[in-house]
Amino acid sequence: MLSPERILERCAALARHSELAGGLTRVFLSPQARAATDAVLGWMREAGMAAELDAIGNAAGRYEGERPGMPCLMLGSHLDTVRDAGRYDGMLGVVSAIECIDFLNKKNKRLPFAIEVIGFGDEEGVRFGTTLLGSRAVAGILDTEVLKAKDPQGNTVAEALRQFGLDPKRIPELARKKGEVLAYAELHIEQGPVLEAEGLPVGVVTAINGFSRLRVTLRGAAGHAGTVPMNLRRDALAGAAECVLALERIARQDPELVGTVGRIEARPGAINVIPGEVTFTVDVRAPRDPLRNQAVTAVRAEIETIARKRDLKSEIETLQEFGVTACSPRLMAQMDAAVARQGWPVRRLPSGAGHDGMALGAITEICMLFVRCKSGISHSPLESITEADAAAGAKVLFDFIEHFRLPA
Ligand code: GLV
Ligand code: MN
Ligand code: MN
Repeated sequence: MLSPERILERCAALARHSELAGGLTRVFLSPQARAATDAVLGWMREAGMAAELDAIGNAAGRYEGERPGMPCLMLGSHLDTVRDAGRYDGMLGVVSAIECIDFLNKKNKRLPFAIEVIGFGDEEGVRFGTTLLGSRAVAGILDTEVLKAKDPQGNTVAEALRQFGLDPKRIPELARKKGEVLAYAELHIEQGPVLEAEGLPVGVVTAINGFSRLRVTLRGAAGHAGTVPMNLRRDALAGAAECVLALERIARQDPELVGTVGRIEARPGAINVIPGEVTFTVDVRAPRDPLRNQAVTAVRAEIETIARKRDLKSEIETLQEFGVTACSPRLMAQMDAAVARQGWPVRRLPSGAGHDGMALGAITEICMLFVRCKSGISHSPLESITEADAAAGAKVLFDFIEHFRLPA
């Protein structure tokens, strides 16, 4: 039997591995990530899988098919979180997949393909500012330059991997070869309000919106907050405030666009000092790449104009860009069929959030199943799902796995 109680208990157990007292923050390659990954590896082994920590810090499990070494259906999601996170974003997909394998194993059932379940170590990109490190390594599209990215303490990804007991030189070995992965399927909370509004527990994803992430630095002149007259200031934070509003105005020009400044840091950061330097992030997303690219071009131009007008120096760095990832029509049809067999109306919807499937899309066909979450809330401790919806998600995923047909 699939146990939704156990799925929720395991999400709760993982939420206890947190650097934030009384809340959940678990970033890539942290001691808390190690503890959560070890728990997941243990559950994978209990479910009859061979499981190991891979060279980028993913929890990787494999359940052989009718014969050892067959190509796999890959399932997964991520084990890292944002700051002050909910306990289901990412983790629900990993523990639901393990629950499905456990059920197959109890039934002593082998399929005409292997199944791999991966708990990806980094999807959120909180620690190093660059996302999807775990899934990009598995897809073989992780540029080794990324290993030089630094966390706020100045540790590079390569150093953090070594501190975690991993050898960065082994990352290229993770890249799956053509034909080894038949498809990638990910269960994830919806992170939006559509399913709840329509009274549906699950939905089938059509595509994942693309994103662009920038880091902007504005440099002006620090000075005394009491002595420098307003007309002689080069206040970097006032300039940044204007940039934030410009981004909001550009993103509001099209209902399909969203733009966010999620982090801003003013230096030197004292009540009586004019901010001389400010760094902020920009996150722009859209379901169409040309729309996103136009918006990013407009945002860059606006920032440069604002900086010029205020006599600030501007530096704009592209941290990461990912195009729209379409889900495979034939996998969506298979997921639709699983939803219908489990007695639910089929609802298709796009994903505004990013997912590991974006990286896996480079090497295989992908699909996703969304599970309803309360009030569409995510990236918040208020994130919540019901046991009934955890059950519906796991049942549909299991049905999809059992009926998965190999591509012709
Ligand atoms: C990850 O959840 C993202 O969409 O940023
Ligand atoms: Mn997330
Ligand atoms: Mn997620």
